[in-house]
Amino acid sequence: MIKLVLFSFLVFFSFFSVIARQGMWVPVLLQENIDEMQQMGFTLSADDVYNVNHSSLKDAIVLFGRGCTGELISNDGLLVTNHHCGYGQIQSHSSIEHDYLTDGFWAMNRNEELANEGLSVTFLIEMREVTDEVLAGTDTINDAILIQDKISENIEFVKNEAIAGTHYEAVVKPFYNGNQYYVFVNERFTDVRLVGAPPSAIGKFGGDTDNWMWPRHTGDFSLFRIYAGPDNKPADYSPNNVPYQPRKFFPIDISGINSGDFTMVFGYPGTTQQYLFSKAVQQIVEQRNPDRVAIRDAKLKILAEKMDANRVTRIQYAAKYASTSNAWKKWQGETKGLKRLNAVEIKLASEKLFDEWVNSNIDRENKYGNVLNTFDELYDQLLPYQKAKDYFDEIVMRGTDSYRAYSRLARNVRDKDTIDVDKELSFFDEHFKDVDPVVDSEVFVSLFQKYFYETDQRFIPEELSSLFATDNAYDVLLKIHNSSLLNSSQELKALIEKNDVERFKKALINDELFKLFESMSRIYYDSIFTQHRSISQKIEKNQKLYVEALLEKENDKMMYPDANLTMRVTYGKVEGYRPSDGVTYKHYTTLDGIIEKDNPEIYDYDVPDRLRELYLKSDFGQYANNKGELPVCFLASNHTTGGNSGSPVINAKGHLVGINFDRCWEGTMSDIMFDPEMCRNISLDMRYMLFVIDKFAGASYLLNEMQIVK
Ligand code: ARG
Ligand code: ASP
Repeated sequence: MIKLVLFSFLVFFSFFSVIARQGMWVPVLLQENIDEMQQMGFTLSADDVYNVNHSSLKDAIVLFGRGCTGELISNDGLLVTNHHCGYGQIQSHSSIEHDYLTDGFWAMNRNEELANEGLSVTFLIEMREVTDEVLAGTDTINDAILIQDKISENIEFVKNEAIAGTHYEAVVKPFYNGNQYYVFVNERFTDVRLVGAPPSAIGKFGGDTDNWMWPRHTGDFSLFRIYAGPDNKPADYSPNNVPYQPRKFFPIDISGINSGDFTMVFGYPGTTQQYLFSKAVQQIVEQRNPDRVAIRDAKLKILAEKMDANRVTRIQYAAKYASTSNAWKKWQGETKGLKRLNAVEIKLASEKLFDEWVNSNIDRENKYGNVLNTFDELYDQLLPYQKAKDYFDEIVMRGTDSYRAYSRLARNVRDKDTIDVDKELSFFDEHFKDVDPVVDSEVFVSLFQKYFYETDQRFIPEELSSLFATDNAYDVLLKIHNSSLLNSSQELKALIEKNDVERFKKALINDELFKLFESMSRIYYDSIFTQHRSISQKIEKNQKLYVEALLEKENDKMMYPDANLTMRVTYGKVEGYRPSDGVTYKHYTTLDGIIEKDNPEIYDYDVPDRLRELYLKSDFGQYANNKGELPVCFLASNHTTGGNSGSPVINAKGHLVGINFDRCWEGTMSDIMFDPEMCRNISLDMRYMLFVIDKFAGASYLLNEMQIVK
């Protein structure tokens, strides 16, 4: 069996230009894919997708915030993304009095739209390959650091040149692990207002229980509007700003989705690691994922219990819980999927072929002959530091609210001679709004025990081990947490208000919890981070060489660059799958399934009364399919990853038919290895979105500015 799977993979990899199901393609190079896309049914040209001289689909797509995608659906700057992408904003406008998370939010006119500090959306104006410019002058330098300096200098130059005389911003990003570089010229808007969001019982229906799973019934959307200055250019929030007029927006197609239909997802995939060395995959499966899952297990258990018991806690920790649980669950699916695929064996087999290819030619042997051995040694060296780093990241850095307070204050103590009283007060007002010190103390004690008992001696500072030398470490930890300034909103704010730097610093330096965090940070930088970084840099250098060799080896076959939060196109078709023996998943779900899951006793499945009424009346209007059902979500075989959330799912005509928001459980290893049989992206059907806006929320005035294709 393994042999068969192996064989089909090797065939698959060597012909993946033919069965190009996997792949996140660079929009400027789409000429190479367009024939296949058209064979699959796409009716537009590469030029319609990306062009800098006239408007194209790319002009209707934004990077939403720092890690999601959004798309324009009206000529007045109306934008749609996922509910889980707007979650932070919806939550920050929520309180017990205005609980928009629970009840939803609908601006009934433009004056009611809510501004969001810190949120921006970014349009791509142009991207261009600049490898030669970035690497210019580096071939005569021998010293690695000097090469890096030269590259940085070149990048600055390229960026400045690309945006000279404009209000645009530029970034240069490496592709193929530094074998190529592209410059991106972007236009970033900062006045982005919340227009509408369904209640969580729709937008997050199924919650963390259904997350990463099919069958799915989540109405995962939220609406925003981009505002610009009177000249249609980016402007910071002002009541005088006007709705942005985009170069392009998507018509919404409600004519129906069938199995086999062409689909394309166009957005901002964050990170993939398709060209990882076998041992790295093995370490993910055997060490990294199990470690991180176990740590988050401990934290989530505490949060879940507290959130169930108290409504205020539920609001305070909703976003934190969701983001902690999201990767936690994905890592578990990823581990399973990599094991099922025999990913390590597949990698080893292709490395064997690679080795033969290298050794069959003397020049190659000289250049690439050590690549695999080098990986092997470096990943062995990295392993203990990787473990310590994962523990530090999960437990210390991302573990507790009090560490967040610490890191904000530590910067002040270290680098500043004055206190920016207003700024600090507003930071801590926001911070403590979502903190319950009792909840945090339990998380703190539980995680720090884990750190102490499970990491190597050399990564534990004296300050922590001395606490465990007592026989009631639990109580001691608790006391340190409870008596700390970091957890007392009142005391901390009073201290800031005094505006006395000396006193401020002294109080913190003498705080036991602050001291403990200082000692943890110190040991991290001295004994973990520095070593980890130095080995990782060597791995990156070797990875660059490996990918250079692969590009040479694959030659004319298409090999896509790993995702790097730049705009990519991926395409496939609407299709279900078979998750396990004897089970077939259909390609879509309907409102019937929401009613099937309905259970007022379970938070994640508590269907709103109004939705149940509409169901009973079968009042679906123009949004029903030809069987009279109301479609909710659908599956397709597009290769997506984190960051693709909110991405438009585009049909053969270039119309919007769905919003991407997730992947299926059995396919979550696709960031490392794609399996065409099991990897599916999950999208919200636009008909359900329109139904919710129109029939459920009564915000049908919003439909007037959309272009709906029947
Ligand atoms: N799994 C999806 C993604 O990675 C959705 C996450 C948000 N939903 C949640 N229940 N936490 O972003
Ligand atoms: N849910 C992910 C996101 O937020 C998408 C994915 O990982 O498939 O981007």
